[in-house]
Amino acid sequence: MTLPAMRQGRCTVAADGPHVAVPEPRPCPPATAQRRRSFPGAAAELKHLRHWLAGLLPDIPARDDVVTIAVELATNAVRHSATGRGGFFAAEISWRRHPGVLRLAVTDGGAPQGPRWPTGACPLGEGGRGLYLVSALASRTGDYGDHRSRQVWAELPWPAEASPRIGP
Ligand SMILES: Nc1ncnc2c1ncn2[C@@H]1O[C@H](COP(=O)(O)OP(=O)(O)OP(=O)(O)O)[C@@H](O)[C@H]1O
Ligand SMILES: [Mg+2]
Repeated sequence: MTLPAMRQGRCTVAADGPHVAVPEPRPCPPATAQRRRSFPGAAAELKHLRHWLAGLLPDIPARDDVVTIAVELATNAVRHSATGRGGFFAAEISWRRHPGVLRLAVTDGGAPQGPRWPTGACPLGEGGRGLYLVSALASRTGDYGDHRSRQVWAELPWPAEASPRIGP
């Protein structure tokens, strides 16, 4: 599900990597723990993203969903934003124990238009399947930002006992 109210606000990408300069207009409840890492904007970096997530998240079925979402969002950052033209993207995990939720966010280098979220059945032609998959796996999704930088995020339920190795 997409929350249109989240598709507002601004963030920027610094020369040395993505940096969210302005908080979300509707912040999610405080995270129990957070971890963030920047990657160069190239498809070859996706394997490093996978590896980073595998090192942070315990090996439960939901981890595969998080990795799938992260790869789709990062691929979009590289393909559809300035990230892919010599820029960076940042991946961020935020975890709340109660209620058990994990948010995966990717911040990119911005583009004139934002993500086109699916409104109906899975597109049959080429393209448009990535965000369909993300929406299907996530309980909530959203994006905010503009041509300077944009963050796209997805949340999914995460068991309270399966603490990521990302903080207290
Ligand atoms: N980070 C982004 N910045 C700007 N536009 C985006 C971003 N992510 C997605 N989009 C737009 O939303 C559309 C839908 O994205 P989606 O991932 O569903 O499909 P796709 O990337 O075109 O193809 P694929 O099925 O291979 O993922 C894209 O074609 C693009 O126009
Ligand atoms: Mg895509």
